[in-house]
Amino acid sequence: MASPDPVQIDIDGPIATVTINRPEALNALNDAVMAGLSAAFDQIGSSPARAVILTGAGDKAFVAGADIKEFQGLDRPAALAYAQRGQALMLKIEQFGAPVIAAVNGYALGGGCELALACHLRIASQNAVFGQPEVGLGVIAGFGGSQRLPRLIGQGRALDLLITGRKIDAGEALSWGLVNQVTTPVELLATCRKIAARIARQAPIAVCNTLEVVNRGLDMTLQEGLDLEAERFASTFETADMREGVSAFIEKRDPAFKGQ
Ligand code: HXC
Repeated sequence: MASPDPVQIDIDGPIATVTINRPEALNALNDAVMAGLSAAFDQIGSSPARAVILTGAGDKAFVAGADIKEFQGLDRPAALAYAQRGQALMLKIEQFGAPVIAAVNGYALGGGCELALACHLRIASQNAVFGQPEVGLGVIAGFGGSQRLPRLIGQGRALDLLITGRKIDAGEALSWGLVNQVTTPVELLATCRKIAARIARQAPIAVCNTLEVVNRGLDMTLQEGLDLEAERFASTFETADMREGVSAFIEKRDPAFKGQ
């Protein structure tokens, strides 16, 4: 019997849902899951989806980390390639042309926390648990956590997680700005779908430009970021959606954006 797909994709109109389907290992990121995630974003990239929800199967874990069992037997060059492969996957998600919402339905540890950090929004259920426990395994965060965590929540709080390995609950994650919103487990996916639907009603090129300007701007001087912002603002004036959005406002009706 064929084993079930490690990553499932469901595209429902403008909203794509990607589910990491390895609940027996708390959705740990093994080779097959990483390849499946990369392929899923390629497939969604050529679909009309305007927002993506990323979650884990089961009610216990979003992703409990990189698959620790795959660490055995890695030498230094293989470990370098391993980290670089994971980082490339996180970058692919961060640079995706439509917003990716992490629906964090349980443990988001190590590489799982780093995966959530690569998403554009994080919505957590009350049973979510966040942490970077790598130092307890004798390794360090390797899928971008040492870089994205301080950018998102500040150096002090990031180091608290990264050097103590302690775990925090959804409430503390919310108070730190690590997540955008906390829901009950039952309401998690419906809440994410509502956010995704709202995003899908906005002008897609404008949303995509916003993701690019915010993400790239974090690595720029203020002036470089302002120049990029002005350039991308100007480029929207060549879109049909900009004319539609402004006309709809003046005509007091809802806009119908085509992503053109
Ligand atoms: C492989 C994992 C796993 C992981 C859980 N499992 N996490 N397998 N890699 N990261 C497996 C367990 O081995 C077990 O399978 C099954 O999932 C259920 O887990 P339990 O431990 O029995 O569940 P529980 O007692 O409820 O504990 C949950 C937990 C614990 C607290 C989340 O599983 C845990 O501490 N997991 C590891 C978390 C972690 O350290 N993550 C960071 C990894 S390093 P079996 O078959 O054994 O019963 C990392 C680095 C990223 O992510 C960067 C790399 C470059």
